[in-house]
Amino acid sequence: MWRKQLPYRVFNAGSLRIFSMCPKCMELKLPREGAAFCTQDCFKACWSSHKSVHVKAKLSSLGTGSTGEQDLGVLNEGWQYCLRRGQSRTPKLPHFDWTGKLRPYPISPMRVVPSHIDQPDWAVDGIPKIEPNSELQRVVEIKTPDQIQRMRETCKIAREALDAAARVIRPGVTTDEIDRVVHEATIAAGGYPSPLNYHFFPKSCCTSVNEVICHGIPDARKLEDGDIVNVDVTVYYKGVHGDLNETYFVGNVDEASLQLVQCTYECLEKAISIVKPGVRFREIGEVINRHATMSGLSVVKSYCGHGIGELFHCAPNIPHYGRSKAVGVMKAGQTFTIEPMINAGVWRDRMWPDGWTAVTTDGKRSAQFEHTLLVTETGVEVLTARLPSSPSVFPWLNA
Ligand code: MF3
Ligand code: CO
Ligand code: CO
Repeated sequence: MWRKQLPYRVFNAGSLRIFSMCPKCMELKLPREGAAFCTQDCFKACWSSHKSVHVKAKLSSLGTGSTGEQDLGVLNEGWQYCLRRGQSRTPKLPHFDWTGKLRPYPISPMRVVPSHIDQPDWAVDGIPKIEPNSELQRVVEIKTPDQIQRMRETCKIAREALDAAARVIRPGVTTDEIDRVVHEATIAAGGYPSPLNYHFFPKSCCTSVNEVICHGIPDARKLEDGDIVNVDVTVYYKGVHGDLNETYFVGNVDEASLQLVQCTYECLEKAISIVKPGVRFREIGEVINRHATMSGLSVVKSYCGHGIGELFHCAPNIPHYGRSKAVGVMKAGQTFTIEPMINAGVWRDRMWPDGWTAVTTDGKRSAQFEHTLLVTETGVEVLTARLPSSPSVFPWLNA
């Protein structure tokens, strides 16, 4: 999924970087290390977690903050909110108003992709170059038969990599281990794991546990009995991307989580069922919103489905919520994802200080399913559809 109106921005590639300083920190003469943000957008995205620093500083300068001295130390511990985002996790937890029980764990070193594998343009320096400037951010491409054939192949590899991940999920397995499985399945098939170094994302897939809505970074945390975990896989192969995800049960989960995950699965199925030429993109959100709210669940608004092909994220933008302003109608030959994120509680999201992990603001659970779709003359082809070999992990699919 991608954030609505993704704030594309220019990073300078070398070690020399330009920072925006937080004006409030400057005014309060707080240490520069905690006040530096790579861009204005990054500053805005980090504001909810960063602003507590000012309150602490004021309290301690007034002598009313009992732990003021120690808390200010947090600024110097090197947690950088934004720069190379996901790679900025430090051994010590940053100050953050965590919304639920989940916490970040250490991230393993970046995995290697053999040099014979064709890489997207962000693989080396973390910066997508073609994607943000392409006119395909505005116009929805009609794929050629050759592009469609390549997307079928890529999507099948992505499906098989996701299925490999699904087979290893059980209590005690770390999300880093899931990432290793996805990475190895992808490169064994000759593909590149698209998330790896995309805008500096440090891993080969996203793993989103419990209250994480999306873009969770695989780390050293072991899955626990009763968890739910979404695994989101994207593969780049023969010049095109294929993107899908599923939410899995870890051991025995409670009834509410079963309902949440099944309803989210149904939301995606219902949305896919209306796809055909002539249907408005905004209808997708109407269908999903109706089914989710009927079950007392809410729909995430900040992250949307997206066009996909030679670009990872492009037009059209596909909101999953109702009453959206999405424009345009579906045409045969278009390819895009639908990937509803459904919450047990409120729809609102917040971001962890790592700049990637999106969580529910109330700490309640969130589930997601995603497919890459092709609009055909008569309806839809699910390019990332389950295969006969796919593991049976969803009770509602066993007739
Ligand atoms: N696969 C996600 C999507 O569905 C995007 C992940 S981008 C990453 O659009 F950088 F976070 F990996
Ligand atoms: Co997607
Ligand atoms: Co995805």
